[in-house]
Amino acid sequence: MPVRPIPQIGDPVLRRATAAVDPVSIDSDDIQALIADLIDTMTAAGGSGIAANQIGVSLAVCVIGVTKNARYPYKPPIPLTVMINPRVQLLDDEQWLNNEGCLSVPLRGDLPRHMNIEVSAFDRNGESFTETYRGLTAGTVQHEVDHLNGGLIVDRMEDSRTMTTWENFAEHGMDSYLERIAPVIARTEPKVVTDG
Ligand code: NI
Repeated sequence: MPVRPIPQIGDPVLRRATAAVDPVSIDSDDIQALIADLIDTMTAAGGSGIAANQIGVSLAVCVIGVTKNARYPYKPPIPLTVMINPRVQLLDDEQWLNNEGCLSVPLRGDLPRHMNIEVSAFDRNGESFTETYRGLTAGTVQHEVDHLNGGLIVDRMEDSRTMTTWENFAEHGMDSYLERIAPVIARTEPKVVTDG
């Protein structure tokens, strides 16, 4: 069953910190099947990332990836990346105000994210890697790592009045959000060519 149901806010599995994966087990059938299911479920749901506890598995595995995404049309592309036991290190104190949604939360809202981070993790082949992420992509990574720690976007929202449905965000919030993040994208994703 490659595409799995996604637990929603209130399900205790989302609030439990996930357990680290033994790196020698990464090539096992169980972990490889988990990775495949995460990718299939994220793709089917149109997400830009997904964490293992979002398919009910309490292990420290997450996936990020953005190509052309109808759910997040403004997100710069991210190559499909599997992160096992990811550790985030902040590269400085700079933060920016993102607006995020989540496959496990019906609403979206504003929350601060760090601008520049470094992540160390194991990939799907069991190789360790370290990568720097900035801006929106750094936000996506922080979002997934929050999941692995039992966190959800609502925990970081400092002003509950920014919470909206997706429909109302599209109608009332998207324009000002795009204006707000344009300088973040310009600074952190210099290679992105916008349409038109
Ligand atoms: Ni999420």
